[in-house]
Amino acid sequence: MFKIVLKEELGQNVKSFFVEAADAAKNAKAGQFVILRIHDRGERIPLTIAGVDAQKGLVRIIFQETGKTTYELGALEEGDYIKDFVGPLGQPTEIENYGNVVAVAGGVGTAEVLPVIQSLKNAGNKVTAIVGARNKDLIILEKELKQACDELFIATDDGSYGAKGLVTDVLKNLANKENIDIIYAIGPVPMMRAVSNLTKEKNIKTLVSLNPIMVDGTGMCGACRVTVDGKTKFACVDGPEFDAHQVNWAELISRLALFRDLEKVSLDNFKRNPECKCHKE
Ligand SMILES: Cc1cc2nc3c(=O)[nH]c(=O)nc-3n(C[C@H](O)[C@H](O)[C@H](O)COP(=O)(O)OP(=O)(O)OC[C@H]3O[C@@H](n4cnc5c(N)ncnc54)[C@H](O)[C@@H]3O)c2cc1C
Ligand code: FES
Repeated sequence: MFKIVLKEELGQNVKSFFVEAADAAKNAKAGQFVILRIHDRGERIPLTIAGVDAQKGLVRIIFQETGKTTYELGALEEGDYIKDFVGPLGQPTEIENYGNVVAVAGGVGTAEVLPVIQSLKNAGNKVTAIVGARNKDLIILEKELKQACDELFIATDDGSYGAKGLVTDVLKNLANKENIDIIYAIGPVPMMRAVSNLTKEKNIKTLVSLNPIMVDGTGMCGACRVTVDGKTKFACVDGPEFDAHQVNWAELISRLALFRDLEKVSLDNFKRNPECKCHKE
């Protein structure tokens, strides 16, 4: 059992937990994730390790409530326990001194990109971050990002904060002005695909962190199958980061939608009766 020692609300439906998980905290590297299960009858979901306090043995997860399990997780309080919390999983981000790096994040992808930015900065890179969200309330971790990178650009779809428009608009301007050595993009699939299309045109190496449905996280179940450069890869063990220009985006989008109807039913049932215990014991 893994205790939640600190809970914070970072924005609209976005929560941050520090969880007691000493082994994961000791071994985690940027780009890795955990798979957690709230209780015996819960589903397994992957969440990126957004930070660690290795001395205190704490792992930080930041998540957006989008469906049944993330809402159920968000309802837990400090002092509550998570039944399973397995990690670190996945390949760490390859951190090198590339030179001029741009990290692009959308929505809760901001939480996922933060440790990557911190590691890239420690490796001597000049790091520019571009973060985007639908509106001001969904912009998270601005202070931490400002501290971690050299320059931060914010874009909102409705113009309520930062530049009005998409992260790709900001990226396009930047790429026209300066030479970018590598781009990291993390966030919703349509955003990552749009970044990939733009940077392919400009021939800038781009890595994306893919978020297919995952179940076991050990390469056994096949749920997280993606096609990269025409070859089958399992995002949980081969990724989650891949060369954006080689990803079969259409397949990823179609596989992410496989259970949409069931996910909706599950969330509706949970919202109708969140106190229901029949699925917990
Ligand atoms: C490596 C990785 C790291 C991730 N890191 C974060 C993070 O740091 N913060 C965050 O908010 N989200 C993260 N996600 C996405 C997160 O796992 C999903 O939002 C969560 O599983 C949704 O579950 P749900 O029951 O709340 O929603 P559901 O209603 O079940 O699903 C909502 C959507 O989430 C996706 N999803 C559902 N089940 C899974 C699953 N088992 N595995 C992956 N995706 C699923 C599907 O696209 C689905 O349409 C990550 C995903 C991956 C693969
Ligand atoms: S989650 Fe099962 S193979 Fe990756």
